[in-house]
Amino acid sequence: MNNRDVFSSKFGVIAAAAGSAVGLGNIWRFPYVLGENGGGAFFLIYLLFIFAIGVPVMLSELIIGRRAQKSIFGAFKVLAPKYGFFQSVGIIGVLTAFLILSFYSVVAGWTVEYTILALGNNLADKSPDQLADLFADFSNSIWRPIFYLIVFMGLTAAVVIGGIKNGIEKYAKILMPLLLVIIIILCLKSLSLSGSREGVLFLFRPDFSKITGNVVLVALGQAFFSLSIGMGTIATYGSYIKKKENLLQTAVSVSFIDTLIAVLAGVAIFPAVFAFGIQPDAGPGLVFVTLPNIFNQMAGGYFFSVAFFTLLVIAALTSSVSLLEVVVAYFTDELGLKRKQATFLGAFLMIVLGIFCVIYPKVFNGFEWTSSNLLLPLGGILISLFVGWFLGRNKVKDELEAHGGKAIYLQVFLFIIKIVAPIAIAIVFLNNLGLIG
Ligand code: PHE
Repeated sequence: MNNRDVFSSKFGVIAAAAGSAVGLGNIWRFPYVLGENGGGAFFLIYLLFIFAIGVPVMLSELIIGRRAQKSIFGAFKVLAPKYGFFQSVGIIGVLTAFLILSFYSVVAGWTVEYTILALGNNLADKSPDQLADLFADFSNSIWRPIFYLIVFMGLTAAVVIGGIKNGIEKYAKILMPLLLVIIIILCLKSLSLSGSREGVLFLFRPDFSKITGNVVLVALGQAFFSLSIGMGTIATYGSYIKKKENLLQTAVSVSFIDTLIAVLAGVAIFPAVFAFGIQPDAGPGLVFVTLPNIFNQMAGGYFFSVAFFTLLVIAALTSSVSLLEVVVAYFTDELGLKRKQATFLGAFLMIVLGIFCVIYPKVFNGFEWTSSNLLLPLGGILISLFVGWFLGRNKVKDELEAHGGKAIYLQVFLFIIKIVAPIAIAIVFLNNLGLIG
């Protein structure tokens, strides 16, 4: 027997994994990359990647984690002592966690600042232009973003120190459903604005002439980023899941919830983008310059703005916690550090990297691009190949049926992770290098 913490209920598992998946990736990144990449066509490709590749890769990670009862780095040592090569997934995963969490905390810091602005009623009564200036001034300054980055990292470290059951699960269970409700209300308001139709068309009517190799790559990267797959986050969670849980059901539910929230964020944002004359390709500030305009037109706007930004901070927190957890699991399982020391060390290093992201936008963009469009899909290839070709069919079957059901989809799953997913990802990569297509 091992004495790892386990999630106490099925709802807890799904809520915590969904807590990792749902975050700034859905509400901040999805709308802004969709806006930069032409709208509806990007959306379609994104959906295709989520369900054809994302769900199988997520399932593969859950299998690895639960089978090994280890964080991703140790997992490959246990499962594949002969294939040392696969331990690179763990190393890439830890590195990716560092890259992501450093720019992620910067954006999360923006949301903390916006929560405080909303609380002080400082977003109210401003024109769309003034709101755009406000964001530009803030995000181009140095000290305030650094301050809020540190605040956010501190919050993340505090939750991680609390341990799995007491920390993550407790927060995720109550707050994620609340966020969903607020976003739905925002959607309704956004759709009711005059001029909203254009935004709906932008999001849902694909213009296939907009598809380029780069658009496909960004959609792939966003699918991985949003689902938290390709670096071992989900595998680490998998190691805390009981044998009686159905892994397929977990992967499908989490992916469904994640996609739902991204789509709703799109529906909340794009109608308003067009109604207020904001550019859909405004970049990383899109959410911050769009949503305050909606709040300003709403009855109870003060309440909704405070609630929304607070919940966004918390959604970001349940994701950042899962990123820091990868690093902490590595430091504790592999380097023998105590949980507290590991957390402080990880958080400190990420603050340092985050400061570079604040000062040098190129570093921010570089970290964001490299982690989502390169490292996560690369990790995805390795994870799929490993489960498909090296783990062994019996072990895979065993994990998929451990809850007592029959995995009738086993063949299809194996076909996807052995062949379809790795080849599809490789084609997207090669196409972007200009080697094919
Ligand atoms: N999926 C998270 C989000 O959408 C970000 C994340 C990526 C978290 C990778 C963990 C691992 O905000």
